[in-house]
Amino acid sequence: MDKMKLETWNLTSKNVEKLEALFPNCIIEAKGEDGRLKKAVNFEMLRQMLSEDAVEGEEVYDFTWPGKKAAVAEANKPTRMTLRPCPERSVQWEHTQNLYIEGDNLEVLKLLQESYLEMVKVIYIDPPYNTGNDFIYKDDFSASKEEYRAQGLFKNTDSNGRFHSDWCSMIYSRLLLARNLLARDGVIFISIDDHEQENLKKICNQIFGEGNFLAQVVWERAYAPVNLKKHFSESHDYILCYAKNVAAAACNGLPRSSEANQRYSNPDQDPRGVWKAGDLSVGPVVASKVYEITTPGGRKVLPPNGYCWRLDKKTFQEYVQDNRIWFGPQGNNVPSIKRFLSEVKQGMTPMTIWKYKEVGHSQDATKRLKELFENRAYFDYPKPVELIKRCIQLYADQESLILDFFSGSGTTAQAVMELNAEDGGERKYIMVQLPEKCREKSIAYQDGYQNICQIGEDRIRRAADLIAEQYPASEFDSGFRLFQLDESNMKDVYFTASEYAQDLLPDLAFNIKEDRSEEDIFFGCIIDWGLPLTYACKTEWIDGCKVLNYGKDALSACFSEGMTECVITYMAKKHPQRAVFLDVRLKSGAQKRNLLEIFNTISPQTYIKVV
Ligand SMILES: C[S@@+](CC[C@H](N)C(=O)[O-])C[C@H]1O[C@@H](n2cnc3c(N)ncnc32)[C@H](O)[C@@H]1O
Repeated sequence: MDKMKLETWNLTSKNVEKLEALFPNCIIEAKGEDGRLKKAVNFEMLRQMLSEDAVEGEEVYDFTWPGKKAAVAEANKPTRMTLRPCPERSVQWEHTQNLYIEGDNLEVLKLLQESYLEMVKVIYIDPPYNTGNDFIYKDDFSASKEEYRAQGLFKNTDSNGRFHSDWCSMIYSRLLLARNLLARDGVIFISIDDHEQENLKKICNQIFGEGNFLAQVVWERAYAPVNLKKHFSESHDYILCYAKNVAAAACNGLPRSSEANQRYSNPDQDPRGVWKAGDLSVGPVVASKVYEITTPGGRKVLPPNGYCWRLDKKTFQEYVQDNRIWFGPQGNNVPSIKRFLSEVKQGMTPMTIWKYKEVGHSQDATKRLKELFENRAYFDYPKPVELIKRCIQLYADQESLILDFFSGSGTTAQAVMELNAEDGGERKYIMVQLPEKCREKSIAYQDGYQNICQIGEDRIRRAADLIAEQYPASEFDSGFRLFQLDESNMKDVYFTASEYAQDLLPDLAFNIKEDRSEEDIFFGCIIDWGLPLTYACKTEWIDGCKVLNYGKDALSACFSEGMTECVITYMAKKHPQRAVFLDVRLKSGAQKRNLLEIFNTISPQTYIKVV
């Protein structure tokens, strides 16, 4: 019987496997630190394979900083952490397709790698901008657990000699992991300002590929200058936008504004509907397209100097026959082409300057958030909901999964819910947020919010109520399943059993931490098996034992003591695709053989593992 791994993939070895498939001659065997042989990359050979010329001594253009290699290693390092379900703090746990995950996003992204591989259509993130006052996460998991908890967050001030390097390392490892979650036609939007824009763009060029750069949007975030500023009062942020694969990504365009539609009218009552007059002349001159046109009123017209007509003579006549040329109400104007609204592209191509009149500004966002909380200011600098709605609208469809792993006050969740309420869509979200403590002097803390997750979760609840009031007929998903990142459910012995003497093992046999529930273990297995976290969970009691079922038939588990043949048979008769049991509950070899035999007979296709 296979044992659950309960540790994410070592991405380095996965990457080596992928390289081996492409360049088998670049893979060698080398001795690891434990003395065992493992596969390694012959980089000299790989470099040679990727170069047409000899690469010896070649200088390469590369953007790097102290700590970059460690950031790659950090991203590839497996994690033993887990996500613990919190149904009591969730909203509509049973039915919702949305997720709210509390914890450091580096670890959470690692845990989501298999369950959500290439499943996210749009990622929007708004990481700390590295202004000199931001708390950023110190990815140092070699420290002891206590140290790790204490030092997790540190204030990255510009007196820190590694000010930019630390920020670059922080974002690099997270983007490396996030890219794996993006669908083939997925797109990522990243808010940033001048503090790190330059570095972020270079990092994104490396991670997503320069060819997948879509735009660097300028968002007008302020509407009035701050006169105290000595030189300039910055009034914009950037939003960097990259596709996973530019050839696959499709822009939906912006919904046509009523302002744009108002430019269309129908003065001649054309049955094809409203239209707008388009210029018939165009430069530079093409001799064959310079000809005289006689208007219905008898006036003779030529194109202006340096221009010709857009249509050749024959096509022009066809257009006249089809009533597609407009000579003005009296039939004597310079001719123009009728452009029908019904024939123009429905989505308008977005431009790269997003004005506050279209998507809101920073103060507006703060005001709207305050209004949700009885005018109390709990979160500084949230983004406007309209801004994030635009990012989502441009590249997501109505069923897409949207991810924000620096979710702050939860604006992205509100944007997803609003869009769904407006158009009946079923977009889903995953929010990830560190339980960063609220400052004791803050209004939020004084009103009982201890950390930002509590603010974000409450914001989502309040926004959902407001949207439900505004769209009473809508059945949008207003819930979320809440998970907390925590250390492994298993005691260390689970991972290091081979290091213990055999006679010690029975004492160590109950290898699950005392404070963990059966549901904790169950979700640990769900993640390990790479299943999504939002399937329906059903608990049944059979013969006094608790049987946990996941989805229609995705997984079945029983961790109860005294599991009888009747329980095993019951489970097997449901033909689950996977089943998991506690090793320690299957006391003898005979019991294990019996379990396998029952499944082999009734449901041979079930994949069985033990924890
Ligand atoms: C600029 S705010 C995002 C604001 C958000 N867009 C909004 O509208 O409310 C960045 C957030 O990222 C969070 N954060 C920073 N480091 C993190 C980490 N390692 N994991 C998860 N969240 C983190 C911070 O606590 C902060 O709330």
